[in-house]
Amino acid sequence: MLLHRAIYVSDAVGDAATSLLVLVEILGGAERNNRRDGLTGVLMRHDGRFLQAIEGRRDDVDRLMGRLRADPRHENLRLLSDTDVSCRLFGDWPMTLAELTPAAGRLLNGGGLDQLGPDRAEAVLIAAAEALPVPA
Ligand SMILES: Cc1cc2nc3c(=O)[nH]c(=O)nc-3n(C[C@H](O)[C@H](O)[C@H](O)COP(=O)(O)O)c2cc1C
Repeated sequence: MLLHRAIYVSDAVGDAATSLLVLVEILGGAERNNRRDGLTGVLMRHDGRFLQAIEGRRDDVDRLMGRLRADPRHENLRLLSDTDVSCRLFGDWPMTLAELTPAAGRLLNGGGLDQLGPDRAEAVLIAAAEALPVPA
């Protein structure tokens, strides 16, 4: 299967910047839809911004990006990378929440999620995902 990965950063709007309930709602819907669509990935929220990687078939990634661009819970979505890939980096989860661990935080170099280039953004998500338990 040809695989594609998109990574973007966006600004959370209103409650979405801090509310646990909003995160739970996003992740609940993401889990259901992404299982259906064969998508996997990781989502981080930090300092009012979202950083998310999504991987799967190109059509499915593009369709989700279209829904994300229309979602009022965030705005100013900037695509950091959008590329064909040979394997999944986050294949263990339909979508999981990753905290900014100390190891991931060091990669920010004192800046915010919005100051990351594509390689650094991917590295932050990989470092954060390494701290997560892999589902049985
Ligand atoms: C930061 C953020 C991340 C999201 N991630 C996903 C995702 O991985 N998969 C998904 O289907 N929807 C995700 N959503 C929700 C979509 O924008 C959209 O609301 C949803 O896909 C609509 O699907 P529904 O018609 O089944 O409710 C996310 C929303 C936000 C704000």
